[in-house]
Parts: sequence; C-alpha cells; structure tokens
Amino acid sequence: MSNDSSSRIVAELREWIATAPPGAKLPSTRALVAQHGASPVTVQKALRTLTSQGVVESRPGVGTFVRAVRVARPNDYGWQTAALGAPQHRIRQLSTALRTAPNDAMALHAGYPDRELLPERLVRAAFARAARSEAAVSRPPAAGLPELQAWFVTELGTATPVDVAPPAPSDAVIVPGIQSGLSTAFRALVGAGRPLLVESPTYWGAILAAAQTGVQLVPVPSGIRGPDPDELARAFQRTGARAFYAQPNFANPTGAQWSPALGEEVLEVVRRHGAFLIEDDSAHDFGIDTDPAPLATRDGSGHVVYLRSLTKSVSPAVRIAGIIARGPARERILVDAHAESMYISGVLQAVALDVVTQPAWRTHLRNLHHQLAARRDLLVAALREHVPDAHLEAVPQGGLNLWVRLPDATDLPRLVRDCEAAGVIIAPGDEWFPAEPTGPHLRINYAGPNPGAFPDGARIIGEALAKQAQ
Ligand SMILES: Cc1ncc(COP(=O)(O)O)c(C=O)c1O
Repeated sequence: MSNDSSSRIVAELREWIATAPPGAKLPSTRALVAQHGASPVTVQKALRTLTSQGVVESRPGVGTFVRAVRVARPNDYGWQTAALGAPQHRIRQLSTALRTAPNDAMALHAGYPDRELLPERLVRAAFARAARSEAAVSRPPAAGLPELQAWFVTELGTATPVDVAPPAPSDAVIVPGIQSGLSTAFRALVGAGRPLLVESPTYWGAILAAAQTGVQLVPVPSGIRGPDPDELARAFQRTGARAFYAQPNFANPTGAQWSPALGEEVLEVVRRHGAFLIEDDSAHDFGIDTDPAPLATRDGSGHVVYLRSLTKSVSPAVRIAGIIARGPARERILVDAHAESMYISGVLQAVALDVVTQPAWRTHLRNLHHQLAARRDLLVAALREHVPDAHLEAVPQGGLNLWVRLPDATDLPRLVRDCEAAGVIIAPGDEWFPAEPTGPHLRINYAGPNPGAFPDGARIIGEALAKQAQ
C-alpha cells in the first residue's frame, strides 16, 4: 500500500519537476503530506527515490530542490578497444538461467527456486538474530565460522561409512556460493591452460568459471545415467588431466543421479590417474524420490573435493557454500579463496548456520520434497500432453529441472523467441554444452513461480514447436 502511494507521489512529482526550473524548491514534506493524503514516511520515501534518481537534491534544514538536468552527450569509448585488445577467453553473455523475467511472463528458465519454496520465516528470524549478534560487527576467520565449517563437515561425516575417515571441520572452507567456489577450485587445482574433464552437458556456470580461469575444458559424454567410466579413463589418458568436474547427484541440467556402482567405478578411475574429482553437490537439498549420496563420503584420501551450497535451499540472499578438501589441496583452495575475497560476511554465515540448525529446517526440507515432486509431475504430465515431440529420457529423481530433447530439425533460437513472444521464458539447452551441442534441448525448471500455469506454458511451447513443423 505505502509502496504504491510512494510510487504515485514519485510519478506526480516527476511531472511537476519536468516543468520546474533547476533550483526550484519542492513543497515541504508537510505540504506534500497534506496534498497527497499520505503519511510522512511515504512522502520521505518518495523524496529519497527522487534523490537516488538524481532529479532532486536535499539540503538538510533548508529543503529539497530540483537539480539541473545535464545534457547527455554520447561518449566515445573507442580508445578502450585498443587498450583492452581482444578478450583471451570469450565469456558468454548473461546466462538465460539468470535472466530476470518480466512480471507477466511465465518463468520456466530460472535456476533458483521460487520464494514459496524457501524457509522464509526461518530466514527472516535468523537475520533478525544475526543483526543483534556479534556477527554484525566482527570479522570471521578466513576459512569461515568454525560452527558452520563443522556443520558442513558433519553433514558429510554422518553419511560416511565406518571404514572411511570422515573429514575434520578444518577441512571445510566457506565461500560465497558454489559459483565462486568453482573458480577457486579450478584455479587452485587445475590452473590456466591446463585440462579439466567435465561431463557434457554440464552446468553452464562451470563452463563460465573455466572460461574465467583459463582452464581448458575436455568434454566427456554424460547423460541421465552419468558418464561412461571407460570413456572417462581414455580422456584422462589422452589429455593428462588431473581433475574431473562432475555432479553425481541430480545434475544440472539432466537431473541424473549416478548409481552407487558407477560412483565406485568413477572414483577408481580418478584414483588410478592420481586426479581430483571436483564434486558439485549443489542440488543436495532437492532429492525427491531418492536421497543424495555424495561420492565424497566414500573417499578418505583427498581425491574428492566436495562443494555444497545453501544459496538455493536457504535463500538466494544468503550466498553461502562450503568446499571440503583435504591435504595440500585444502591449503591451495583456502589461499585462493582468501586472495579472492579475504573472508565471507559473518552475518550471512550466521544466518545460514541459524537456519540449518533449527529443528524446523528438517520439516521444511520434507515439505519441500513433496512440493518439488508435485511440481515435477505436473510439468512432466503437461509436456507429455502438449509437447509430444519432446523426449524426456527419464523423470529426474531430484533437482529442479527437466532436460528434454527436441526433434533434430528444431530451430532452437526461433523456438525460444516465439515462446517468449507468447509470454513463456525457456532456456535453450545449448548453454549447457562445453562444446557444440549434440542436439536441440530445453532445460525447463519446475521450481519457478506459479506452477498452476505449467499446462499453459507447455501448451505454448507445443504450439511454437508445431509451427516449425508446418
Ligand atoms: C550445478 C550447480 N552448481 C553451482 C551452482 C551455483 O551455486 P551457488 O548459488 O551456490 O553459487 C548452480 C546454480 O544454478 C548449479 O546448478
């Protein structure tokens, strides 16, 4: 209500300002309160908005005045072309998964769960507590709050078999999200110009982090059942790579969960080649029909470097992840993370820890799994009904996405454009391929807003696809 009135006052004052000379004094707050029938708080908010937009300036004790409008001259940045030269690694434009959708569009492209799937009450209470705590005014240790390090490690440790030594709290390094952790891991464990094996398709952000860090990606075919260990072994042999980035549980985009036998085989190949498995467990909290089974629980000798995030399951505003690594690798990771950001806001760490240690967190996760199951099944049914030509190799047992293969002749960019024109935003699968895509795919997220509209969204995709066959 007060937001709306404040926007209305802003709009009306902007009209007044448009015809007022520079330096003109705005009516007093009291006069504006009377004129607009709004509270002083709402009027002050409108004035702050106008100040931040640069159209007025406030002189304390004197009043608020119209600022002189500067005539915008086009700048010539041509000199920068010579100064910067050609980029060493072309980093793609903002990924589709990060696009902000217009309010009236149906967002099937996003990578983050909708607000109704977040533990909002727990998060708000945790922020209120953190604001009153030491965390609000102190610098945490470089590796992270010890209690949060211990939490990440305990989560892994409780699933670790008795014959494997569990990690110690000091093996965890807190980072501001897995995305940042990937750049750190790639720099610290691989290095610019050196090869890194990755599944294909794989998470677009890993492709981005490799481009940023100058690591050379070597794609290994993967799919709903994970990679072929023989293919992986050949890639290690051929390239001399010493690391493999993979998502054994509910992979983005395929939703794949590796069988325990495949996990063992991959670990064996990794060990044989004296290599690291960089295990991205970002979907750990999104198991639907099965629980995640991190490979890190089966490794006591430092081959697996494990990344787990709370950004998606706690709140996108709490960008917190943990990297668990042992031995010198852990030191390299800590040094890189330290050079990158020195330390991570203690407030965010305290909030994350507070949320995940509340008894209500477990209840939230149980409810979340039911909601994800219902959303996934609704979208699968809608696609089967309205997009019969889309091939879903398997219904994922966890994660947030469906990965569908479209007919070979599909003009993917046109499909994405046509859907968007009809109000549905979808993500073209090409962004998940480290090399040329092996076919036209879509990654469709079932955790976004308004699941009731999934059938409509599927119908629109189906119609846009059918139009191409005509
Ligand atoms: C597989 C995977 N890894 C990492 C991330 C990024 O995680 P964070 O938000 O913790 O940076 C994502 C986000 O989409 C993801 O899908």
